[in-house]
Amino acid sequence: MSGRVYNFGAGPAMLPGPVMEQAQREFLNYRDIGASVIEISHRSADFMEIVETADALLAELAEIPENYRILYVHGGAQMQFSAIPLNLIQRLPARRAAYAVSGNFANLAAKEAARYGEIDTSRSSAASNFDRIPEFPADGLAPDASYAHITSNNTIYGTRWNDFPDTGAIPLVADMTSELLSRRFDMNRFGAVFASLQKNLGPSGLAVVIIREDLLGHALPETPALLNYRACAEKHSLANTINTFALYLMKLVLEWLRDEGGVAAIEQRNAAKAALLYDVIDQSDFYRGTAHPPHRSHMNVTFHLADDARLGDFLREAGDSGLYALKGHRNVGGARASIYNAMPVAGCEALADFMEHFERSRA
Ligand SMILES: Cc1ncc(COP(=O)(O)O)c(C=O)c1O
Repeated sequence: MSGRVYNFGAGPAMLPGPVMEQAQREFLNYRDIGASVIEISHRSADFMEIVETADALLAELAEIPENYRILYVHGGAQMQFSAIPLNLIQRLPARRAAYAVSGNFANLAAKEAARYGEIDTSRSSAASNFDRIPEFPADGLAPDASYAHITSNNTIYGTRWNDFPDTGAIPLVADMTSELLSRRFDMNRFGAVFASLQKNLGPSGLAVVIIREDLLGHALPETPALLNYRACAEKHSLANTINTFALYLMKLVLEWLRDEGGVAAIEQRNAAKAALLYDVIDQSDFYRGTAHPPHRSHMNVTFHLADDARLGDFLREAGDSGLYALKGHRNVGGARASIYNAMPVAGCEALADFMEHFERSRA
């Protein structure tokens, strides 16, 4: 696709080229029905086929066991910051939950949950500006906690959980917004995971929730009808008009991922892509990674220039070379390369080359 840059934006992020082309090709006339996919009923047979195909592909790609349900919920990931406590905090009468505070979104999720119950935020890496994943001593969890919550990949700080905490009988909930389907994980370790689409799965505005069936049915009475996970499961996420375009695009992304060899293959490719950039950072004093190396993300690579005064030139020259949206988040500064599934290896090679070239040009 000519004229397109390598887009390192954190999200909404670049989507696979073949997906964009297919969406463009069939936009005006979906499957010869004479109307666009965004002009047909969410209850029509053509659209139901999209929903069912998306369900089947997600189940296959994420290896979701039979006793879990897949939901599509409005409002992106932050809406789930409310929906998770609304649906789960009352699982046990103490209305307690533990939130590991590993970054900005984890912090927002914990704050939202505190509206509904007593939240333990003692596991935190705030003291080191979230440059690492906090320790998570499972034996300190209150036995009457309704759930424990982590953010599996911290988009802003460029860290990820490599090993997920063992919370025993307490259901573990994960915000996987910036990494779902980028690496394999064992769903059985989790009570629920959720992700908004706009990193690895599609456009913004919709979230996928995968939840163990026995966790449905605990919602607080004040839970809005459209955020009630059990009602959502019973109505196949079609209680009202779903974001049909987002779901359609997600289905195309899932088909693309299947054709690329699935999650095991993309995981390897993602590790190789991240290594290209971390190698440049580690082999030079010119760049400094911001994340504690053992906790480095494979999705968001965060770094500073040793001389911060050069950052403006770095970002401008990168932009001129077709390397787009590398500015770091204001909480960290510096640069951030978001390299989700759709970023090709060639994009990371181009950035690694540019970084070496920029360093040499300033020697
Ligand atoms: C880990 C994580 N959680 C939550 C969000 C918020 O997502 P949304 O904008 O879909 O509410 C983001 C957005 O970047 C994120 O990276």
